[in-house]
Amino acid sequence: METQNIRFYYRGQVREIAGQATTRTLLQFLREDLHCTGTKEGCAEGDCGACTVVVGELNRQGVVELRAVNACIQFLPALDGKALFTVEDLRQPGGALHPVQQALVDCHGSQCGFCTPGFVMSMWGMYLDHDWTGPKPARQEINDALSGNLCRCTGYRPIIDASLAMFDLPRVEFDRQALAESLKKLRRTETFSYQSGGQVFHAPRTLAQLAGLRIQYPDARILAGSTDIGLWVTKQMRDLPHLIHIGQVAELREISNDGKYLNIGAGALLNEAFVALTEHYGELDEMHRRFASLPIRNAGTLGGNVANGSPIGDSMPALIVLGTRIVLRRGERLREMALEDFYLAYQKNALEPGEFVQGIRVPLPAPERRFRTYKLSKRFDQDISAVCAAFALLLDGDTVRSARIAFGGLAATPKRAAQAERALEGKPWNEASARLAMDALKSDYAPLSDMRASSVYRATAAQNLLYRFFLETRPEAPLDLSRLSVFAAGVEA
Ligand code: FES
Ligand code: FES
Repeated sequence: METQNIRFYYRGQVREIAGQATTRTLLQFLREDLHCTGTKEGCAEGDCGACTVVVGELNRQGVVELRAVNACIQFLPALDGKALFTVEDLRQPGGALHPVQQALVDCHGSQCGFCTPGFVMSMWGMYLDHDWTGPKPARQEINDALSGNLCRCTGYRPIIDASLAMFDLPRVEFDRQALAESLKKLRRTETFSYQSGGQVFHAPRTLAQLAGLRIQYPDARILAGSTDIGLWVTKQMRDLPHLIHIGQVAELREISNDGKYLNIGAGALLNEAFVALTEHYGELDEMHRRFASLPIRNAGTLGGNVANGSPIGDSMPALIVLGTRIVLRRGERLREMALEDFYLAYQKNALEPGEFVQGIRVPLPAPERRFRTYKLSKRFDQDISAVCAAFALLLDGDTVRSARIAFGGLAATPKRAAQAERALEGKPWNEASARLAMDALKSDYAPLSDMRASSVYRATAAQNLLYRFFLETRPEAPLDLSRLSVFAAGVEA
């Protein structure tokens, strides 16, 4: 196999890279090879935001999209065809500060400064995204956009103040058109094939190319946003001899509505997928905001979260209770199954050799369905769930026609609560039925104790979440969300 150079746009020119390990991270390359040390390393696992950079890429319409991502878990070959911006690139003519930086200075938003470049890049991401014909972002939007950046010494209030103040300073425009022209020259139509030191990295452009590669190399590891696989390298020092990256397969990035299902391609970014989902299911709004952080949602994919099948993945309980189907492809053959049937055991799924996840199909809302999903974790933002719950009832009047209940964090895979569901079906949706189902949950799960929560906590919390669902959806006097959540609208950090 012939290798090609990694090509990306950086500091006004195209860089060509060869001879780097396929799993070399963008952060290592920036700091150790380019000596571009403004970008910092804190956790090396996508949790602290010190390494935040902005990556630009062309969408299918040829428009540049710019997103803040964590450089510490991005592999260098995945940058092929894209543009990279680091904190050094915000320097203005004559060395003046960019409004993002000036606002941080004016608002005293930095002390030791270690976190500051990461905050600057997340804030710049927000600045680039801003609709300048509308009002400034609300404080809550800023909190959400900065949820992936940790600061240990300044405190967040001045940083959030700066994120508001930057919009009052004279605007510095970004020339997307010029960048689009540069990126068009880097576009490939054939699979990008890169190898170094015996490691191989393939990035197909089409579904057919991907399907062919998958059959040819059934042992290769499929890579999407590397928000999990990146840690296998930075934390577990694992060797990944062959990666097939799906991020450049345009068909897999698509999200469409066929009137019955929302079809989400396996390569659709988490953020895009959640935006589409919350348009139909407003109940997912809090889960969207609390799902990792914005830089992770800008890189990770919903398909990756689902395919990974982690027992603590936050998307699966909700998707399972909504009746989501998963679409698997091998060559030309497509097959579909209920999402819960995809998970066989801990880290074991129904994929056959040569097969991959093409997408998921989420049923559109039914008016008689009551649906909620809840996440319990030690922090509100950017934390791993101790328990993640989802409930969906179809009601005939006040009677439960069908019940779907699923939990994450209680078993080796995301799992439905068969006994609790049975306890509800055909019963009136009232307190007595809810109590019966809470009791039945005890036979559905035998949760473990770990550093996040004890088994007793998990079992009790699961029951209480079911009760909360009842209080919010009971026919008589359902409780308003604002009476239950300290994070409800109107309460500011
Ligand atoms: Fe912490 Fe990358 S170094 S998120
Ligand atoms: Fe010190 Fe944020 S300024 S960590």
